[in-house]
Amino acid sequence: MKDQFNRTIDYLRISVTDRCDFRCRYCMPENGITKRRHADILTLEEIAEIADAFIDLGISKIRLTGGEPLVRKGIAELCRQLKSNHFLKELALTTNGTLLPQYADILKNSGVDRLNISLDTLREDRFRSITRVGNLRETLKGIEAAERAGFTGTKINTVLIGGFNDDEITDLVGLTRDRDLTVRFIELMPIGEAARWPGTAFMDANVVTERVPELQYLGSDGVAELYRLPGAVGTVGLIRPLSHSFCGACSRIRLTADGMLKPCLHSDLEIPLRGLHGEKLISALKDGICRKPARHYIDRDGVSGTEKRLMSEIGG
Ligand code: 5AD
Ligand code: SF4
Repeated sequence: MKDQFNRTIDYLRISVTDRCDFRCRYCMPENGITKRRHADILTLEEIAEIADAFIDLGISKIRLTGGEPLVRKGIAELCRQLKSNHFLKELALTTNGTLLPQYADILKNSGVDRLNISLDTLREDRFRSITRVGNLRETLKGIEAAERAGFTGTKINTVLIGGFNDDEITDLVGLTRDRDLTVRFIELMPIGEAARWPGTAFMDANVVTERVPELQYLGSDGVAELYRLPGAVGTVGLIRPLSHSFCGACSRIRLTADGMLKPCLHSDLEIPLRGLHGEKLISALKDGICRKPARHYIDRDGVSGTEKRLMSEIGG
């Protein structure tokens, strides 16, 4: 389906839980979050019903996010249920990777096509510091488990943070040398916790090609500009929501764990979907797609327009 700016909306991101086993500094406040009550979270049946209605309207790709989607009970059953709708072409999932050693095979057998794994640093001490509780080795084991389970084209998401990991760009790019991975550097966005961070933390992703001039430009895949090290198996991506906004080509829409349709990550506009079925559900979805804002105004206002929620409730 098209929105009022003639953008084709075919990509749905579903946050299946606001809970996470990490506490990343840019995503959650120090004292943790007030968890939503269980009863406020959509059941798996409700998620599947809403997803099917979206697929009827032309959604062909779904990504499951969180929080951490793998802490949601029944996630594999949900994947299987979603994949049983043959009009869905691609089912993907974004994870911090810690539970992949247990889940990679199950996800593969449940129809998940692709994985994105978050990894901001290759240093154990820094990993612990940015995630507050995480263990680098577990996430690295998770990446290996994904490879072993047969996932291809796995993307590693690295948020570029000035003064934190910009001295690791060469090492992170090096991961692509002999592995089928795309390491994607994402510009830190001034949203949620990160909205209060100092200006020096926000870096233009240009720094990646400055530090690694051997990178050869391959082209754009919509949100990322892709590069490759000469002779490397994998690729490197730059995602630049700030320095090169991709709003004009945005094809996505979001569903929060508590049942709100969120037409744009950077807007507080939300449409409640809970309790709607059949024609009423379809018309609420159409309404949400139509009201998708033209773009974000981070460059003008310095902060994202989303204030009601933390990133851990939206899913990146
Ligand atoms: N800026 C950019 N990306 C973010 N994410 C979370 N918070 C931010 C932010 N402020 C993304 C990261 C992370 C995923 C879960 O959400 O890619 O890996
Ligand atoms: Fe969890 Fe991802 Fe937020 Fe980190 S960024 S706390 S892994 S949801």
